[in-house]
Amino acid sequence: MKRIKAIYPGSFDPPTNGHLDLIERGSKIFDELVVAILRNPEKDPLFSVADRRKMLEAMTSGFDNVSVDTFDGLTVDYALRVEARAILRGIRAISDYEYELQMALMNRKLQPGLETVFMMPAEKYSYLSSRLVREVAQLGGSIECLVPDLVEQKLREKIDVAHKFADRQQSAGKTPAEGKGKFRKKKL
Ligand code: PNS
Repeated sequence: MKRIKAIYPGSFDPPTNGHLDLIERGSKIFDELVVAILRNPEKDPLFSVADRRKMLEAMTSGFDNVSVDTFDGLTVDYALRVEARAILRGIRAISDYEYELQMALMNRKLQPGLETVFMMPAEKYSYLSSRLVREVAQLGGSIECLVPDLVEQKLREKIDVAHKFADRQQSAGKTPAEGKGKFRKKKL
């Protein structure tokens, strides 16, 4: 019987419970699933690729058929390299569809033998995105239940470091704008 290997590519900055939900669903229909983190030098990520890899490895350690890897260049080239036959992507709402369809069709044009499979995460994650998690965490809101505990802890650590940096900038007489931190200190 043919074994089907799929990749689940993305930025995962940071990985959320929505990602984890999709990984769990994917692990049930594919024989093997590789969570593939894009190494994109043009983006200015909050977490390094190494941090994201560690978080995803910890999050997926309970799945026998899931592994974590990193890649750069075209997703289809990476898929071919690891002999995957499908690309898994999540669709949360209709608003995701247009972009995802565009990517899926472009990937099909580039590599006709590779299929994109869309899956829907649980409804409770339909509004969840890494970007919103970053923003809420940075502005002092609660991200409980939106990300695994480990990711929440890592976010808190980053925020603490950034706040200390902002405090040092302020005591050195610099305005917040002069500091290059990604975090604004929450007003109390
Ligand atoms: O989690 P994201 O940021 O929505 O993931 C987007 C990702 C990484 C899947 C997409 O940007 C991608 O595939 N990038 C790799 C470069 C590539 O293949 N570009 C052509 C896509 S049609």
